[in-house]
Amino acid sequence: MCKKVLITGASRGLGLCFTRKYLEDGGVVFACARDVQASGLVELKEKYGDALIPVEIDVVGTEAVNKAAKTVSQYTDKLDIIINNAAVHSATSFDILEETDLDDCLPVYDINAVGPLRVTKAFLPLITQSANGLIVNISSESGSISTAGRVKEFDYCMAKAALNMGTKLLHNYLKDRKVNVIAVHPGWMRTDMGGSNAHLDPYETACKLTELFKRIGKDIEGPVFIDNDGNEYPW
Ligand SMILES: NC(=O)c1ccc[n+]([C@@H]2O[C@H](COP(=O)([O-])OP(=O)(O)OC[C@H]3O[C@@H](n4cnc5c(N)ncnc54)[C@H](OP(=O)(O)O)[C@@H]3O)[C@@H](O)[C@H]2O)c1
Repeated sequence: MCKKVLITGASRGLGLCFTRKYLEDGGVVFACARDVQASGLVELKEKYGDALIPVEIDVVGTEAVNKAAKTVSQYTDKLDIIINNAAVHSATSFDILEETDLDDCLPVYDINAVGPLRVTKAFLPLITQSANGLIVNISSESGSISTAGRVKEFDYCMAKAALNMGTKLLHNYLKDRKVNVIAVHPGWMRTDMGGSNAHLDPYETACKLTELFKRIGKDIEGPVFIDNDGNEYPW
């Protein structure tokens, strides 16, 4: 049966690759982006027509996210998968403590950690209509406290650690409603964020992850924080 999937940060990088992969697999994709005219999305829209519904969302605005949920509910009464993928680093994230601008931490936290909760809250009435709803928060090994080795990227790493906690709370909360909530480290990918030296191609990662989600999506008792092979990742 055709899956209805909502993806944030669909304008480029992994989010755009997820969008392409779910469309190739015959799904209907609500591709959420700050700029729905982004070239990659426009290309996919030309190819897949009505199966791709671009939805304008900046995940920092509660009003905008709620408005987007209303728009989406005009197209569908359920969602099967929500992929909370949108994220950023601040401009000085990679600078050492003395040089990084800590005033950038809150905006990053708002996008990377609160954004996925905001989206989940707004789309809850749709995802709970699926027989086996799945919410995937795209996290990172950088959010793991027990394996942390970095000495910088405070904004990003702290926000991903907070996202992991949010994922666990949502997992506990939505379990009884048959919605599985997981946090996934996708691996180091060649995107604007990951840079050109990264190991993984984002489209190949999207293909691997969509297969993984089919396998483990219903496994509500399984691990909550996982890597791209589905193995439990240390918190
Ligand atoms: N790349 C890696 O190696 C790597 C490793 C581990 C985890 N991750 C995670 O994987 C996910 C995808 O990363 P990526 O590498 O594809 O990053 P990317 O290429 O930098 O793309 C980030 C996406 O997030 C969107 N976004 C940023 N702020 C937003 C906001 N306020 N509202 C809505 N959308 C917003 C961007 O939209 P605009 O085009 O409008 O800016 C863009 O579509 C992220 O969660 C990232 O943390 C990436």
